[in-house]
Amino acid sequence: MVLSTFAGKTVSVTVEKNYTVKNEKLMKWVDEAVALFQPDSVYWCDGSQEEYDRIAAQMVTQGKLIKLNDAKRPNSYLARSDASDVARVEDRTFVCSKNKSDAGPNNNWMDPQEMKNKLRGLFEGSMKGRTMYVVPFSMGPIGSPLSHIGVEITDSPYVVLSMRTMTRMGKKVVDSLGEKGDFVPCLHSVGAPLKPGQKDAIWPCNETKLIVHFPETREICSYGSGYGGNALLGKKCFALRIASTMAQEQGWLAEHMLILGLKNPEGKKSYIAAAFPSACGKTNLAMLIPPQAFKGWEVTTVGDDIAWLKPGPDGRLYAINPESGYFGVAPGTGDKTNPNAMATMKENAVFTNVALTPDGDVWWEGMTDAAPAKCIDWQGQEWTPDCGRKAAHPNARFTVPATQCPSLDEKWDDQAGVPIDAFIFGGRRSTTQPLVYETFNWDFGVYAAATIGSETTAAATAKVGEVRRDPMAMLPFCGYHMGDYFQHWIDLGHSIKKAPKVFCVNWFLKDEKGKFIWPGFGENMRVLEWIFDRVNQKADAIETPLGYAPRYEDLNFAGIESEVTPEVFEKLMTINAKDWQEEFKLREELFEQLKDRLPEKFKAIQEYLKLGLA
Ligand code: OXD
Ligand code: MN
Repeated sequence: MVLSTFAGKTVSVTVEKNYTVKNEKLMKWVDEAVALFQPDSVYWCDGSQEEYDRIAAQMVTQGKLIKLNDAKRPNSYLARSDASDVARVEDRTFVCSKNKSDAGPNNNWMDPQEMKNKLRGLFEGSMKGRTMYVVPFSMGPIGSPLSHIGVEITDSPYVVLSMRTMTRMGKKVVDSLGEKGDFVPCLHSVGAPLKPGQKDAIWPCNETKLIVHFPETREICSYGSGYGGNALLGKKCFALRIASTMAQEQGWLAEHMLILGLKNPEGKKSYIAAAFPSACGKTNLAMLIPPQAFKGWEVTTVGDDIAWLKPGPDGRLYAINPESGYFGVAPGTGDKTNPNAMATMKENAVFTNVALTPDGDVWWEGMTDAAPAKCIDWQGQEWTPDCGRKAAHPNARFTVPATQCPSLDEKWDDQAGVPIDAFIFGGRRSTTQPLVYETFNWDFGVYAAATIGSETTAAATAKVGEVRRDPMAMLPFCGYHMGDYFQHWIDLGHSIKKAPKVFCVNWFLKDEKGKFIWPGFGENMRVLEWIFDRVNQKADAIETPLGYAPRYEDLNFAGIESEVTPEVFEKLMTINAKDWQEEFKLREELFEQLKDRLPEKFKAIQEYLKLGLA
């Protein structure tokens, strides 16, 4: 057990555990963690509502959570993070494979032993004065062959509450592990030990932050941050970085994708998985409400962020959402843009870094057209609409249980997953990429997915507005060399009988004045319908240099004809040869970085596309 390299001296602590644990590996690992972290007490989470309410109440007493007005937002809380701990820290995120080349140029790397020594130094005694929580969790329905188990050790009660919403958590997971079951060990400490009598911070964290993955031994260690993907280790760390390496080894896919169901008025249903870089409206698409012109159509939500896809016995790819809640970006989410998300968060929610209204509710930019006359901003300061500051941090979040979503798909929790008929890939591009096209075949689809670019937003610490290549929206989340990852995609598609069709979309095209020319949000249904019909062999298309595309008459524009005229549609579908020459140059920069492991096929595909656009 690798963790013994961490083991420090023996310490004695009070342990609270209201169930039996038969798994020896788990018991031994927790003992070692106690010796390393040296907490005051250990608490094994059972995952009950009573436990959630008790921990939340303790945090309210300590001033770490604010209880919202129960009449307006029942059983909900506001957390304010430290101003230095508001987003994922990609520059402090490492994949420590044995060989540097296996981590690829897409990951920061350090020698695993060197990193473990460093972590040991940081972790030793880092929970002094605190409770060490043991959080057993399942990514995916407990017992499903598509699911995997992890256990997170953390000194953050905020993480405990969040993990209960975002994963299946507690005693039932330990029961399903039994005596011999295996799990991914995840160590997390905010890195803020307390001396006897020392007053705790509202949001303890450490200036030094390190988010580390050991792919060969499947371990995760996180130090210094209490925020989102840095701290809820089931999400980006396990369900994407570690799971992607497991998937490569075992022949499946762990992807940064939403999953939605689409049912036509005749009752025919298809499931679609879609990848977009962070903060490109994945949650909005997953919870889309069709416009009036689409009477009888239904869009249902399986997941909004992550998909695990495994080949089924019938040669199709079956997907589960490994999460059980949504950790969505609040700003920009409102009754106009995403009524289903708003309904999902009407109770049992934890909000982080949003504003507090005078009546004890929450607010953020984009929630309503009119801002409240005053409120308390995300940093606890008085705020008025003309004060020149944002009320909510741009990466402020809501954390809510999936079961509260009005559009939840009936199979969202199905042990067998749902069969995927189409993949959609998109980025935030004001030019170049047309509204929609279907790629010629699987290999062209993988190439298109691998070459997505997107203008960056506040979910990562990158400079906002820059175009960065974000293959499959996985650049910050692929746990191994991106070139090998592309090859794995190609191979997987050829190994199954019915690979999904692959589509590219772009909701973010702008005119010369910088104004969006596609209405987006619910109107994206018009594109989804065409994709649904292509999958079900019903829609027409024309061949373009990039792939198959709809004509104006192939999409249903009823109700928005005056906004999306044939002229506007032409702009939306333009493939401009000059823009594409630039685009190919940028793609070549990506290929240059990955050249030692880039699939051979990509060069030929790019040459073919270039010829078509010459
Ligand atoms: C997220 C992200 O939080 O992609 O989902 O950054
Ligand atoms: Mn995401």
